[in-house]
Amino acid sequence: MSAVTFPEGFLWGGALAANQSEGSYLAGGKGLTTVDMIPHGAHRMPVKLGLEKRFALRSDEYYPSHEAIDFYRRYQDDIALMAEMGFTVFRTSIAWSRIYPKGDELTPNEEGIAFYRSLFEECQKYGITPLVTLSHFDVPMHLVTEYGSWRNRKMIAFFSRYARTCFEAFDGLVKYWLTFNEINILLHSPFSGAGLVFEPDENPEQVKYQAAHHELVASALVTKIAHEVNPANQVGCMLAGGNFYPWSCKPEDVWAALEKDRENLFFIDVQARGAYPSYAARVFREKGVEIAMEPEDAATLRHTVDFVSFSYYASRCASAEMNEQNSSAANVVKSLTNPHLPRSEWGWGIDPLGLRITMNMMYDRYQKPLFLVENGLGAHDEMNADGEINDDYRISYLKQHIQAMGDAIADGVPLIGYTTWGCIDLVAASTGEMSKRYGFVYVDRDDQGNGSLERIRKKSFWWYKQVIASNGRNLDSI
Ligand code: BG6
Repeated sequence: MSAVTFPEGFLWGGALAANQSEGSYLAGGKGLTTVDMIPHGAHRMPVKLGLEKRFALRSDEYYPSHEAIDFYRRYQDDIALMAEMGFTVFRTSIAWSRIYPKGDELTPNEEGIAFYRSLFEECQKYGITPLVTLSHFDVPMHLVTEYGSWRNRKMIAFFSRYARTCFEAFDGLVKYWLTFNEINILLHSPFSGAGLVFEPDENPEQVKYQAAHHELVASALVTKIAHEVNPANQVGCMLAGGNFYPWSCKPEDVWAALEKDRENLFFIDVQARGAYPSYAARVFREKGVEIAMEPEDAATLRHTVDFVSFSYYASRCASAEMNEQNSSAANVVKSLTNPHLPRSEWGWGIDPLGLRITMNMMYDRYQKPLFLVENGLGAHDEMNADGEINDDYRISYLKQHIQAMGDAIADGVPLIGYTTWGCIDLVAASTGEMSKRYGFVYVDRDDQGNGSLERIRKKSFWWYKQVIASNGRNLDSI
């Protein structure tokens, strides 16, 4: 391994999202949001995928988002823990339905604004830069039931109003913004990704790509608004990243991998380059998709992002023979199982070199600064008799990925910063489990919602503090 050098001012920190951490799902005037309807257990996947319509809560099910890790009430203590680790950046999201509880109101909910102002001021107190996602798997339910969510063009106006409210209310406190978390997940998990539920007689591809068009126009429009409100604002797109490798060097497999990459990169191609990519027309034709566009959309899309952010957990693999039976999902995107990689307890391939490959590809393609805003290992953590959590496996995973990130920087890729996912344990998006933990800080809570919610520093807490203090030079285990 070569020595790792990170630029001065490189941002180090961690990430949470409102929907997986805040809880207090109806406090402070908040409205119900998509994630509030997604239960733990057997119905989780059908609801997440938009195959089972769930517009009312059921008394016989457990909804992990409703209390989550109680970040809404504990944020001051949690930010203090982040400050203790030396964070210079903290990524979280704003719950749209705290600011506009139904989504289509003309005036915002002041209590929601006050909460986030207080949260961002808390960050400021410690010199922590917030990185804020406007929509992280989060659509007000009223917009789903009344308008069909992102399938409806009216969403562009609702989202723009919400975004403008945030840019104005938090001007001077927040400079780094992301529009949609993992925007490509709309294709793979349509209800959690974009509030989409399908009717039996419709072409899901048509619905998904029309919704994608609305999100892409909305994203470009709010990028423009962010710059108008304050030219210092920096707006990024966000990709669920990880390149597809061809299963073999057979040309058909190489082509399959290229097509799979394009499926995900399509979104970033638009957001970073300002127009639909040339391959889109054929893809739409073959899927029977016709996008309804307004004449002004092409000009709006030309408002491109300032930087490209992405999550990276694992690489992916595709072949010409790939199908539902021989593939499985790691971070929702279907992939063949790469036999050359070790896997996490949840079967996600562990591939640090894949991060370097992904970063190089993305910079080659977009020529914009990158920001790695999610990365980490979901694992079961056990406390020993002394009350310690010795998560050496997590340290090992992060160390290898930081090394790979350093290698990509040495390759010439500009990287603004790094926020590890779930820096404090939170609810897993895919499974709804608490026991799938990513944090440097343990949260005493189980998959059924039992536990004191007490925060306990893990071994990785002290390790990451050392990494940050040395600006990534000291990755040694402790
Ligand atoms: C990303 C999401 O998909 O991966 C997060 O942006 C999510 O919200 C993370 O939590 C890890 O996935 P999971 O299912 O392990 O929580």
